[in-house]
Amino acid sequence: MAETIAVRGGRVIDPASGHDAVADVLLQDGRIAALGPDAGQGASNVIDASGLVVSPGFVDIHCHLREPGFEHKETIESGTLAAARGGFTTVCAMPNTEPAIDSAATVRYVLQAAAAAGNARVLPIGAVSKARKGEQLAELAELAEAGAIAFSDDGDPVWDAHLMRRALEYARMLGLPVIDHCEDKSLVAGGVMHEGWVSARLGLRGAPAAGEESMVARDIALAQATGGHVHLAHLSAAGSIELLRAARDRGLPVTAEVTPHHLALTDAAVLGDPQDEAGLAYDSNAKVNPPLRGETDREACVQALADGVIDCVATDHAPHATEDKLCEFDHAAFGISGLETALALCLSLVHDGRITLPQLIERLTVAPVRALGFALHVEGLGMLAIGAPADVTLFDPDAEWVVDPLQFASKGRNTPLAGRTLRGRVVATVYAGRVVHDGR
Ligand code: DOR
Repeated sequence: MAETIAVRGGRVIDPASGHDAVADVLLQDGRIAALGPDAGQGASNVIDASGLVVSPGFVDIHCHLREPGFEHKETIESGTLAAARGGFTTVCAMPNTEPAIDSAATVRYVLQAAAAAGNARVLPIGAVSKARKGEQLAELAELAEAGAIAFSDDGDPVWDAHLMRRALEYARMLGLPVIDHCEDKSLVAGGVMHEGWVSARLGLRGAPAAGEESMVARDIALAQATGGHVHLAHLSAAGSIELLRAARDRGLPVTAEVTPHHLALTDAAVLGDPQDEAGLAYDSNAKVNPPLRGETDREACVQALADGVIDCVATDHAPHATEDKLCEFDHAAFGISGLETALALCLSLVHDGRITLPQLIERLTVAPVRALGFALHVEGLGMLAIGAPADVTLFDPDAEWVVDPLQFASKGRNTPLAGRTLRGRVVATVYAGRVVHDGR
């Protein structure tokens, strides 16, 4: 049961309304009941937020919860606990599960498992193609009817351009976006990291940026041809961003996200820690798809997020089991367990003066909601408006902590940040009026 909670005396930042001042937020019956200087006065259940930032619960439009099928990597229970730890109250679950989320029954399974766990709102993303094979369209209308909020074959591209065109036409009729994993596999040609001096030095096969850019170009053309909404997932290359910028200037229905790791890290992370006692030549925990790229690409991602060409941050939380990573680089799985380090990585941009704190919060809350068009599904998501869901994140933007993957709520300990000191910590998360993470 949702209780009445007063979050008192924090710096309340609600980008949707422009509110940025010390205030109280009163939560009642799972909704925001009041916001103002003394809105929480007299309440018996108080969370003291003095010295903390109080923001709408973060919204992650791209994560892998692995259930059904890969419960040894993550479950909906463990993944949503990781979300709560990371300050996320809404997460969109990618359909590269087993079976894939390509039927109404699987959409309903995900929704039921999420409701049983109760740690965060889970919005399922349906597959574009049956079993994500890229051959036949999934029953998109049936998926939408069951509760899918978008379509994607993420993890793999929709390599057949005609199928992508049809998907966009149908998705447009349903008023939903297609989330695009932009990767031309024939160009990537088995590359396991960014093609650059680090790949050359390590003798690892590189994936050229053109492997992403060419599919971004194709799908911008298809957005124009169909009027369907293309949402570009996990952009990583400067060239992709130039194409996106031009598409937006032309008013095309194209939106985009960037991950915390592409904002904060480069391919140098693959070199690992030279002080590491194991003395490994590389860190497979930095192997991710799309790959961490060079500094010019990272800089372009930061700039595009700051100026709004990239709409929002999305984690691409991709948990894997230890044995999936503890092997030769070529054989290691792609992915970073990202929910629990997302805020701190993003805050490095604020600490470096690249983006303001209200701008960052916007990119983690109302901007992803607007990018995917969630207003259709849950009213008031990503904002602290009266009557909106009582989803609130409290964080200390300056608190330093050392990343210890063994302490993660996620089953995925695969992070290249182990042992790193990060600045910015989620202190408490309230989802639908219930405290789901309390790190006070
Ligand atoms: O690194 C990645 N991991 N990129 C993807 O597109 C898929 C994801 C996964 O599912 O592990």
